Amino acid sequence: MTSDSPDSDAAEGDAPEPLPDGGVDAEGADDTTLDPWGSATVSDYRKLFAEFGIEEFDEVLPEVPDPHYLMRRGVIFGHRDYRPIARAMRDDEDFAALSGFMPTGDPHIGHKLVFDEIIWHQQQGGDAYGLIADLEAHSARGLTWSEIDTHARDYVLSLLALGFDPEEGELYRQSTNREVQDLAFELGVEANFSELQAIYDFDGETDVSHMQSVVTQMADILYPQADEPRPTVIPVGPDQDPHMRLARDLAARMRYFRVTEAFAGFEVEDERERALLGEVYDGLTAGESEDGTADAGDGDDTLRCEDAAEALRADRSDYEAAGYDAATVEGVLEKLENAGMEPIRRRTRFLGRNATDAAFDALVEAVDGEKRVYDEHVDAFELSREEAEDLAREVETDHGGYGFRAPSSIYHRFMTGLTGGKMSSSVPASHISLLDDPEDGYDKVKAATTGGRQSAEEQRELGGEADECPVYELYAYLLAGEDDEFATEVYEECVGGERLCGGCKEQAAELMAEFLEDHQESREQWAEKLDELDIDLDVAADRRGQ
Ligand code: TRP
Ligand code: SF4
Repeated sequence: MTSDSPDSDAAEGDAPEPLPDGGVDAEGADDTTLDPWGSATVSDYRKLFAEFGIEEFDEVLPEVPDPHYLMRRGVIFGHRDYRPIARAMRDDEDFAALSGFMPTGDPHIGHKLVFDEIIWHQQQGGDAYGLIADLEAHSARGLTWSEIDTHARDYVLSLLALGFDPEEGELYRQSTNREVQDLAFELGVEANFSELQAIYDFDGETDVSHMQSVVTQMADILYPQADEPRPTVIPVGPDQDPHMRLARDLAARMRYFRVTEAFAGFEVEDERERALLGEVYDGLTAGESEDGTADAGDGDDTLRCEDAAEALRADRSDYEAAGYDAATVEGVLEKLENAGMEPIRRRTRFLGRNATDAAFDALVEAVDGEKRVYDEHVDAFELSREEAEDLAREVETDHGGYGFRAPSSIYHRFMTGLTGGKMSSSVPASHISLLDDPEDGYDKVKAATTGGRQSAEEQRELGGEADECPVYELYAYLLAGEDDEFATEVYEECVGGERLCGGCKEQAAELMAEFLEDHQESREQWAEKLDELDIDLDVAADRRGQ
């Protein structure tokens, strides 16, 4: 591992070490953009954590039962909100996994990562979906419908050949899924042009259909929850993260109620302020609950907002030392002082937002225990946050709402091209297509750039640079499969100088040819059964336009 690797201290057990940032053109370039339709580049995966708020996968890894090798090896490096998925897998509860493919060319070994991720979640008990983003390919990439049909068929065949179970899971294309179209339309009500402009850099020249393909993708992402809310994971490359952020936002905006924590009649929007207020409140009530008597906040109206303001003023320097900035302290003080004599008590608040009157009334009715009803919100004094969330969702789904859970995502690293630089569909030598002749696959691996030294002698002395080597990536991402020991052995032998590139590439090339041969054989078997599947792979005949 090179010392500047972001993951250098993150190796788990005896699994191969997580991969560093690969890619010749990534080196030195300070260039991290996430553009779903442009050239997404990630020069430094650490930036995705700091700047975009993606979380490190290593942190949830211990919670995942029997993690996939791409997780163990750090190829899947990031996530948003994966915990509900890990929990569902552990507790054997309902969850879903979905991803989509734009049929713009042949499926290649980069797509295989996503195929494998969907299939793995299906094998872990998830309801799995694979979709063909044909509307997106037509509107954002300008492919004709007959080109799209050809590629769609190829993606479906490879997904099946790699193990997707079409009896258990669902395959569909955007253009023929009426339910997705309807959902897209509803979601479009919550999104406007300025927002798409800000997220995707759209401008006055952007085609309307391209925008429609965005809401369609939002609908794809939420489609597994169309019947009922459940945790859903979307495995994608980090270039798709802007879509995930929008989808998570829209899922929240569609909700009837928002559940928050409150202390008095006033609203505290700012999270820091809410945390501070919570601490002040806990400080005020701590004495009472410690000596066994009931918490003064429970059922007793003797504590007032002005008491909390006084306590905060008195301990202000302690709170500031604990990291609350002056503006946060001032914000809380002002609210408490304005509320003055109003009693202060911890409560769970339901904000009415988009709820219909009937749903709002039903919620009020359904809240157990002491409650207080306001114009647009209800405060519950005997419900935990979690109970409140469940109740809000239940009332919503009973009254015609979706009750969406925010969709989760996982992100895999982009593969380095075989010729160095990016792996690109438009440069055949840089990638291996799943349709490549096994011999061509063999030749491409043999011709690949390596992390080897100038001479065999130097290699024996210094060791190879497996971290910079596209061939090592082939082993880690694909060729070693489940076999962690084998992947580790290649790595150690390489950096230890025992492995020379000629032999290493020969071995990789043979494994690649074998893989392609098996894969294509399996594709052929599936090709004979394609007619039996639900997915329509011939839409061109029914469509006009260019
Ligand atoms: N936009 C994706 C791509 O460019 C394809 C896609 C469409 C997708 N709908 C999706 C991916 C839903 C994940 C989930 O490849
Ligand atoms: Fe890459 Fe193999 Fe050479 Fe190491 S020995 S640099 S892994 S090709």
